[in-house]
Amino acid sequence: MTTTDLALGVLGYGLRGSLARTAHRPGNGARVTLLADPDPAAREKAATDLPGVRTVADHRNVVADRSIDAVLVLTPDHTHAELACQALRAGTPVFLEKPLEITVEACDTILRTAYETGTPLYVGHNMRHMPVVRLMRDIVARGEIGAVKAVWVRHFVGYGGDWYFKDWHAERRHTTGLLLQKAAHDLDVLHWIAGGYTRTVQALGDLMVYGGNPHRRAPGEPKTADWYTRDGHWPPSTQRDLNPVIDVEDVSLVNMRLDNGVLAAYQQCHFTPDYWRNYTVIGDAGRLENFGDGPGAVVKVWNSRRSGYRADADAEHAVPDAQDEGGHGGADPLLIDEFVRFVRDGGRTDTSPVAARMAVAAGVRATESLRDGGRPRDVPPLDPDLAAYFDRGQTARTRN
Ligand SMILES: NC(=O)c1ccc[n+]([C@@H]2O[C@H](COP(=O)([O-])OP(=O)(O)OC[C@H]3O[C@@H](n4cnc5c(N)ncnc54)[C@H](O)[C@@H]3O)[C@@H](O)[C@H]2O)c1
Repeated sequence: MTTTDLALGVLGYGLRGSLARTAHRPGNGARVTLLADPDPAAREKAATDLPGVRTVADHRNVVADRSIDAVLVLTPDHTHAELACQALRAGTPVFLEKPLEITVEACDTILRTAYETGTPLYVGHNMRHMPVVRLMRDIVARGEIGAVKAVWVRHFVGYGGDWYFKDWHAERRHTTGLLLQKAAHDLDVLHWIAGGYTRTVQALGDLMVYGGNPHRRAPGEPKTADWYTRDGHWPPSTQRDLNPVIDVEDVSLVNMRLDNGVLAAYQQCHFTPDYWRNYTVIGDAGRLENFGDGPGAVVKVWNSRRSGYRADADAEHAVPDAQDEGGHGGADPLLIDEFVRFVRDGGRTDTSPVAARMAVAAGVRATESLRDGGRPRDVPPLDPDLAAYFDRGQTARTRN
């Protein structure tokens, strides 16, 4: 392994510019050297945050630049296929933010382009590196609850009004819907823990709170400086300066049957006061549930006997502290560590482009179902040649 830093290009320096800052570690394996964002304010901020970075307006001046070893694509969801495929075709390894894209067809275009060009593709599903997720998966793998039969996830998106109804997230043309936009994380985790992919999906949903809020910005008017506050903007009716167009749902309920028979449910609400995720995984010999999902959280396991509710579970596992205080419970630095290792050495990774595609496919079909009175939908499988290519670690051909 070389000790030289990887030279990273970056596309997009908005909120997720945080990940570019995490990846910028001069002398420690990677540094951001070239960055594109059409927004002059974003470029100015990047130049301050990332000393030595060269900034440009047009992403085409980054994707094929021979001075970079890889590119991080941190732009809005509906741009992913176009930008990632340009980089893949130029032979530049890609880190692509989740969700992979906003349609099944666009996802498959990305995977096919990676397959045909042989250029490494890594999808940034950081939740696979979150301590609470890894703990739950380890408990399942140790057999503490027997064979998994059901997974139910409740997602309380307390900052939904700030994060998702004030910019591009609020419009179908940029996201398909928030069910896909946000749930791509949890559908991926749910598939990972359950050991299967969704085959059939059915959903209900509605725009219940933000749709009736008349306090919208005029088209083209930028977000206000106080668009996000940790403690303010409560209750949701006090929200102001929302996106001019809001045509996505703010609550959704999804039921799924996986290809290994597991039954799963996912529920998302953008107007709760609290922001966290609650998972329960039920096996044929026990049940686990997380209480909190960040520092100080625990995962409880009940598996010794039947009873009424017992707060004192049979086992209580503390969620390990993050090794690093970086974003998403310490997941982001680990995500970048894995990506840098993947670019240098190749091989398998905990995140998976195939799983990323299957999470989007389930989210897209669920969104179709909820906009069609809850009629069930089948989730299309991925082309087996593509699945095999990624499953063997993106190496060109199977050995005979
Ligand atoms: N993994 C996570 O936990 C997580 C968290 C937040 C966002 N995301 C994902 O990260 C991506 C970016 O989200 P965000 O919240 O930072 O959005 P954002 O709107 O805050 O920032 C996007 C930036 O991309 C720029 N951009 C648009 N088109 C571009 C182009 N062609 N070339 C270069 N730059 C371009 C915009 O000017 C903007 O500065 C999205 O896909 C989002 O879903 C992931």
